[in-house]
Amino acid sequence: MTIKATALRDDIFEYLVENFSGEDELLAQFKNEAEELGIPIISISQEQVRFLQFIIKASKVKNAIEVGTLFGYSAITIARALPEDGKLISLEIEPFRAEIARKNIEKAGLSHKIDVVEQKAIDYISNLPEDYQVDFVFLDADKNNYYKYVKLLDNHIPVGGIISADNAFAFGFITSSAPERKPEDVKSIKSFNDYMNKWDKYFTTISPVGDGVLLSLKIKN
Ligand SMILES: C[S@@+](CC[C@H](N)C(=O)[O-])C[C@H]1O[C@@H](n2cnc3c(N)ncnc32)[C@H](O)[C@@H]1O
Repeated sequence: MTIKATALRDDIFEYLVENFSGEDELLAQFKNEAEELGIPIISISQEQVRFLQFIIKASKVKNAIEVGTLFGYSAITIARALPEDGKLISLEIEPFRAEIARKNIEKAGLSHKIDVVEQKAIDYISNLPEDYQVDFVFLDADKNNYYKYVKLLDNHIPVGGIISADNAFAFGFITSSAPERKPEDVKSIKSFNDYMNKWDKYFTTISPVGDGVLLSLKIKN
């Protein structure tokens, strides 16, 4: 007998969001305010909040790095799951978005845990101190550069560390040969998924939550 996954029908999705969303009033408020400011709402989805927090808590992450801050939604999500002495570096190229994210992070009482760095991610990651160690990486920005980021970050990730990336299903076009949306990004995501899947230092899966979250656990140096 073939066992197929249960399709995520609307009623099941509603059940998931109603009962297992990690979005509280503050995160919802930040989302509304960002929209009013003309910032695109391309943050992680509500049901992805608890999912990422679960991974972070279960693997006892202390130091995290995120590429793509936007207005701070996922940064706040990650920081809330870190221990009190945990630290997140969140990289954002757009000054206005970085400014709004910092304000939101302050309102959320998380400034002590999160540094929003307003810089091109590749410049920051290329210049990390040699002894910097990161045990959770979240990639959610320029898809064409993920491959470069992980190659540079690998030296800083201990065995047991995790690389995660949003949009592993490429906005729903992962199997499409002629995607109607962002074809270049779809191509980059496909090759990145493939790259991580074949990298023997990492054990990789994709969880079908939101637009798919790729998770790669470092299993050897
Ligand atoms: C999808 S949004 C991030 C959403 C955020 N992770 C969340 O879930 O709340 C992607 C962000 O990455 C930023 N970005 C794009 N390319 C970048 C780069 N090369 N370096 C740093 N940030 C970049 C964009 O300006 C945008 O705000």
